[in-house]
Amino acid sequence: MQNDPSPALALRRMIEGYQVSQALHVAATLGIADLLAEGERSADELAASTGTHAPTLYRLLRALASVEVLHEGDAQRFTLAPMGQTLRSDAEGSMAGWAAFIGSSAYWQAWSGLLYGVRTGENAFVHAHGQGVWDYRAAHPENGALFDRAMTALSKRASAAMLAACDFSGLRSIVDVGGGNGALLAAVLLAHPELQGTLMDLPEVVARAQAQLVVAGMGDRCRVVGGSFFEQVPAGADAYLLRSVIHDWDDGDAVRILATVAKAMATHSRVLVVERVIAPPNEGRDAKFSDLNMLVAPGGRERTLAEFEAVLEPAGLKLGRVVDAGGFSVLEAVAAA
Ligand SMILES: C[S@@+](CC[C@H](N)C(=O)[O-])C[C@H]1O[C@@H](n2cnc3c(N)ncnc32)[C@H](O)[C@@H]1O
Repeated sequence: MQNDPSPALALRRMIEGYQVSQALHVAATLGIADLLAEGERSADELAASTGTHAPTLYRLLRALASVEVLHEGDAQRFTLAPMGQTLRSDAEGSMAGWAAFIGSSAYWQAWSGLLYGVRTGENAFVHAHGQGVWDYRAAHPENGALFDRAMTALSKRASAAMLAACDFSGLRSIVDVGGGNGALLAAVLLAHPELQGTLMDLPEVVARAQAQLVVAGMGDRCRVVGGSFFEQVPAGADAYLLRSVIHDWDDGDAVRILATVAKAMATHSRVLVVERVIAPPNEGRDAKFSDLNMLVAPGGRERTLAEFEAVLEPAGLKLGRVVDAGGFSVLEAVAAA
């Protein structure tokens, strides 16, 4: 890749960053990295396998090689560069699902409303689609499945760090609130054979999750409950896990969800909120851009520690330990005395 220290060129590349994002989206949607998993292929061979227009696919591939996702050899033949390896769907912590989802047209349209969001403080996804992300995904199951796949990819990467950081000793039961397709819960149960799990999420989401839990071998140790965390979550568990859930919501809704959890807790229960915490000024790009993503799509926000305390407290919860877990933090809370 051509390196140029000029601030103008560095900025220009950021300005054009959406072009790279779309190129990665197309490569992930076509499964290019999976086709290259076995080794070198020509643009023509890849076009034949993906049913695409060969000369145009070549233009996409050489652009991706220029940003070190692929490597272009002689005669328009390509291999995977280290970044491209992570686009394979079988890669540990694969980025394939995330790339396919982030560039998908519904999401893309919502992001084109960022200016609208900044001007009005309103939700750009609702502005673009006339409904919020969860209703949209329920009405468009293929989009919901794309989202679940994206979450699985991200969660695999984050799960290992979370498992290493958290102390699950002494726990017998855990509810994963808004647990999506159950990938995180399955990882927790696998690492802790003494634990029984409950996966709780919207009915249409847990319906998709059930089969995956069975495949992961966790069917008999994991109950699945469909419902809304604004109404009720299963009562009396030792621990309640909420990973990347609170950031989807504004403060009022975050308090409502946490209050539902607090109501279900036994006196000894603890809550594990797993989120990115907003860093001091000039640091923490991932959380600060995720915050914009929350603004544009679900209508939530990333928070500082003080902002987390401000939503835990009115829900009747008290923040305890905060443990670093590889870019995420595990915020432990118990019922306030
Ligand atoms: C950003 S995803 C996080 C999924 C999972 N915890 C993870 O870390 O991969 C948020 C989850 O909240 C769920 N959700 C949204 N609204 C809900 C509701 N009212 N009740 C229960 N779950 C809900 C979504 O279906 C989705 O699975």
